[in-house]
Amino acid sequence: MNDILPDATPRWQQLEAVTRAILAAYGYREIRTPVLERTELFARAIGEVTDIVEKEMYTFDDRNGDNLTLRPEATAGMVRAGLTHGLLYNQVQRLWCAGPMFRHERPQKGRYRQFHQIDVEAYGLPGPDIDAELIVMGARIWKRLGIQPLELQINSLGTPEARAAYRTKLVDYLRRHEQKLDEDSQRRLGRNPLRVLDSKDPGTREIVAQAPNLLDHLDQASRAHFAALRALLADAGVAYVVNPRLVRGLDYYSRTVFEWVTTRLGAQDAVCSGGRYDGLVAQLGGRPASAIGFAMGVERLVALMEEGEVPMPDAAPHAYLVRVGERAERAGFQLAEKLRDALPQLRLVMDCSGGSFSSQLKRADKSGARIALVLGENEAQAEQVGFKPLRNNAEQVTLPWDAVVPRLAPWLE
Ligand code: HAM
Repeated sequence: MNDILPDATPRWQQLEAVTRAILAAYGYREIRTPVLERTELFARAIGEVTDIVEKEMYTFDDRNGDNLTLRPEATAGMVRAGLTHGLLYNQVQRLWCAGPMFRHERPQKGRYRQFHQIDVEAYGLPGPDIDAELIVMGARIWKRLGIQPLELQINSLGTPEARAAYRTKLVDYLRRHEQKLDEDSQRRLGRNPLRVLDSKDPGTREIVAQAPNLLDHLDQASRAHFAALRALLADAGVAYVVNPRLVRGLDYYSRTVFEWVTTRLGAQDAVCSGGRYDGLVAQLGGRPASAIGFAMGVERLVALMEEGEVPMPDAAPHAYLVRVGERAERAGFQLAEKLRDALPQLRLVMDCSGGSFSSQLKRADKSGARIALVLGENEAQAEQVGFKPLRNNAEQVTLPWDAVVPRLAPWLE
């Protein structure tokens, strides 16, 4: 679990601001749900035999004896909230939710136990156009963030019935090669055989390469849905790779699944993943409703922005106010508030540490400010202030207070 320090937060804010703006532009509205939910919700939604539920959740009994879990993902809580508040029945909802998620995984670069997602979901829309809209919107976000191209992988898991028939065939095939599978995959074979398809073990991958292909076993409607999605992506000029081994680690998916992956972050290559989960709303007690969404991994995207040297927004103060002497301290306090009234976007730091002109000017310099406003006893008495550009060796000039606002304004752009 990481502390995100003040030098890093401007990057996070940049990512959040761009993403919020694009989500709003597509009509998505924010929802905030609790970080704690009943454990049962995640077990039912994500699936009893998934890594997340079997071994990664932070689960405890609270003082009433209720069994609760820190959310490992946002989708289950959003469906729960939608059902609690009647947002899903016979309605279209485009929603997003951001915040920390918790998984007790083995930590490594890009994989943390508290991490952050921006999670986007659309409800009540069964057609492939919404699948495409979500994917295209993701592409727009990456572009606007200045992130180098990511690879988009897509697949279709079909309906649960089609998948069950495929599962039987897959198990038959894998059983014939059981000895050659890695230990993890042998264990999964009995419980969650589709996960064997995305094993990273080289021996298992060789076996999997010859396995029956899920896409050859899709039902007719899922096949048409997938073809329509591919056509829409092509129309939008969004490149993709069909990866028939993309199965995802959560059980609620049906039909479309997708991941945006990178080769630049080592083993943790997925920066954004999602898919359709048309069965989940009914499974959690609601009337059936179509659903599809994705979650962006904020840490991984921030790492990509760092690595790609995306320029950082300037968070340094525009101006730093130096005050020396008792009268200057009082007058300066007033001046600072007047400037903040007149220039709402002004970032102004007032020195409150005291000391000589030179020690305060040193702090002004260190703050990264572009301008020092210098107030001594004489200036205070005359309602004047020294205006000193710090970054280009320009001369300090003395201005009446009234002249400071127009003089500062061009420095704020
Ligand atoms: P997920 O693939 O488990 O899907 O997580 C989504 C993204 O969160 C991943 O692509 C990755 O970028 C990031 N992520 C996951 N685990 C970690 C971790 N331990 N450390 C850092 N980043 C991580 C879901 O959570 C689904 N709820 C997505 C979804 C939404 N499907 C439909 N709607």
